[in-house]
Formats: sequence, structure tokens, C-alpha cells
Amino acid sequence: MTEHGGADSRCDAGGLRTSGVVERFRAVLPLPAAAAAVSLGEGATPLLRLQRLPAAVGFDGELYVKFEGANPTGSFKDRGMAVAVTEAQARGAGAVICASTGNTSAAAAAYAARAGMRAFVLIPEGKVALGKLAQAVAYGAVVAQIRGNFDDGMRLVRELAERLPLTVVNSINPYRLQGQKTVAYEIVSALGRAPDYHALPVGNAGNITAHWIGYSELAGVGTAACLHCGGNCRFARQCVDGRPQMLGYQAAGSAPFMRGAPVAQPETVATAIRIGDPQSWQPAWIVQRESGGWFGELSDQEILAAQRQLAATEGVFCEPASAASVAGVLRDLRAGRIVRGATVVCTLTGHGLKDPDVILSAEPRIHVLDGSATALQRLIEQRL
Ligand SMILES: Cc1ncc(COP(=O)(O)O)c(C=O)c1O
Repeated sequence: MTEHGGADSRCDAGGLRTSGVVERFRAVLPLPAAAAAVSLGEGATPLLRLQRLPAAVGFDGELYVKFEGANPTGSFKDRGMAVAVTEAQARGAGAVICASTGNTSAAAAAYAARAGMRAFVLIPEGKVALGKLAQAVAYGAVVAQIRGNFDDGMRLVRELAERLPLTVVNSINPYRLQGQKTVAYEIVSALGRAPDYHALPVGNAGNITAHWIGYSELAGVGTAACLHCGGNCRFARQCVDGRPQMLGYQAAGSAPFMRGAPVAQPETVATAIRIGDPQSWQPAWIVQRESGGWFGELSDQEILAAQRQLAATEGVFCEPASAASVAGVLRDLRAGRIVRGATVVCTLTGHGLKDPDVILSAEPRIHVLDGSATALQRLIEQRL
């Protein structure tokens, strides 16, 4: 037990990855005591302090990224999927289903494989990054591409789960958010306190809700209703204060929280957050209100520029959706909306390798040479 509410001391960012989130955080997860952990060694991801990007905007505080791309399937979904599949397996469930913009399908497929369960994944035709599709196939899921977007897929999943013996492992499954809240435990453990601001990309808004649940539990003052049912069920926990302001960034073509209503035809290069009808709509507004934070929107150009800057100046390669958090923070730092001297954490939700096309289709700076040393020397001398 630690001072942060019962998690094992190995939850810090530098901790050994000998176990996954179920084992390390069992004390704060509402799982049956006898449930055997389904794990791929998720969590304990790097919390990296950025140097060049904050300096470039004259920021004198501390800017960190929590690189969730370092999870086993390359995204934050692994934390939640470990807990959801652990619970499903403990109940004797044999199959999981999800709709996905890509990362959920990869994680569901991997953890189902690990648990010996069948996985069915629905993805929007032609709008899923190549790496994610390859993962779902490799992990042996039954992959169905549907004509329609994520929101259409989600409707189908809800309908089918009522008729067939399937466990839905989208973030409407409360165990997903319970797993994803562990990121807040790791951050508080590493920093010794919660940051002043926490920024992340928002699609379904499950992850921002999960972060808030984690920070709220750690703050340990007052009581909060469960963010799923609004009542005092077993997901309700102690909360309030010592928590960050939560900043949720969306892509401009897919920004229902900025419009105040669902978006019928969401569009963005950041396919992971191409979601027009967020499943955690109400909880996310509660997070924004309780934390005193805000939502923001970024153009695809701003998102891609931040992705490239982060990779080329800090050595951190995340997927486009993830870069929305950094793009938003840099803009709000420049605008003075985020106060000077603050400690800011951005969650980088997924690995850049998931979506190689987006980088290579932009402006690949690859030099084609004739194979001679002279040509190579000329190139190097130009660039030294
Ligand atoms: C890489 C990435 N970032 C952000 C999100 C958005 O998370 P949420 O849907 O919980 O808001 C997703 C969701 O699929 C994602 O895959």
C-alpha cells in the first residue's frame, strides 16, 4: 500500500514492468477477489519531461507527456482492456465485442487472445490506420468492416450484445474506465502530486472520464457519485480537490463538445478520435465542470504539426490523435490561458507506428542516392 490509496509501490513510472495493472492496482479495482489477472504487462509507461517544445513557447513551468504508446498493443486501451477482460473471464464469458476506430479493436483482440476468448471487432471501412488493422488480424479477431462510421458501429454493438452472449468492451463497460484510471495513479506517484493541468485528446470521452476518476480517488476528500450511473454504486469513490484542471482537445471536424451536440459526419485525419456521438457525453461535461477545465479544438494541420514537432524535437512519436493534446496545450500556453509556472501533463494515447501512412504521405524527407560515397558525403555535408 502507498500513500496514494492502496496501489502497489511499483506503480511509479520508473517501476519494473513485471506485472500489469490488475496486479499492481487490484486494491483500487472493483474486481472479484478471485479473478485471475489477464495481463500483457500494461501500464508503467514513461512520464517524460519535454524540453525544447516548452522552451519554444517561452513556458517556464513543467510540461510532461505520459507516453501510453509504450503499452503492449501501443495505446492506453490496454489498461482498460486488461481489467475488462479479467472481469469477463472471471464471469465465465467466452466472447467480447467492440466497435472501434482502431485501437480498441487491437487491444480487445490481444487481451481476448491472452484469455482464450473470441473477439469480434467492428471498424469503419477505410478509416482505420493500417497498423491497428494489422494488429486486430494478427491477434486473431473476427474483423468486420462496416459501411458507416464508429457511431454506426457502436449502435450495432449495443444491439447485438442484447441478443447474443457477448461482453461489450467499449468504454461503456465500466471496467474499462477502472483500468484506465490507473494512469492518474502512476502520474501522481511519479510527480508526488497531481499536475495543475492534464490534457488529452477526446473522442468517446471515456479516457478523460477515467483520468478524472483516478485523480478524484487519489484526492480523497468528499464523495463523488459514480460517473456511469450518477448514483452511489460500487464505482462511486472518495473524491474532490487536489485535482488537475482537465483539458479535452478534439479535432475541429469531429468536435461535438465544442458544438454542444453530436456531429453527424465527423471527419479528421486523426482517425482515432473521428467520433461524432461520444458515449461518455454526460460524464465528460461533469469532468469539465468539476475540474474547471475546458474543451478545445484543433485543425488537422495543427494536430499534424504537433505530431511532427514532438517526434523531431523531443524524440517522441505518437499517433495524430494523441498529438491533439500537445497541440492544444502549446496553443493555450501561447495564449496565456494555461498559467505560467504550472505543471502540465499530456497523455499521448497511442504510438505513431500505428499510422505510418499519415507521416509518409505528407512529405517524406527521404533522399534517393545512387549508392556512391560521393553522393552520400555531399548530402551529409549539406546537412551537417
Ligand atoms: C489514440 C487515441 N487517442 C484518443 C482516443 C480517444 O479516447 P476516448 O474515446 O476515450 O475519448 C482514442 C480512442 O479510440 C484513441 O485511440
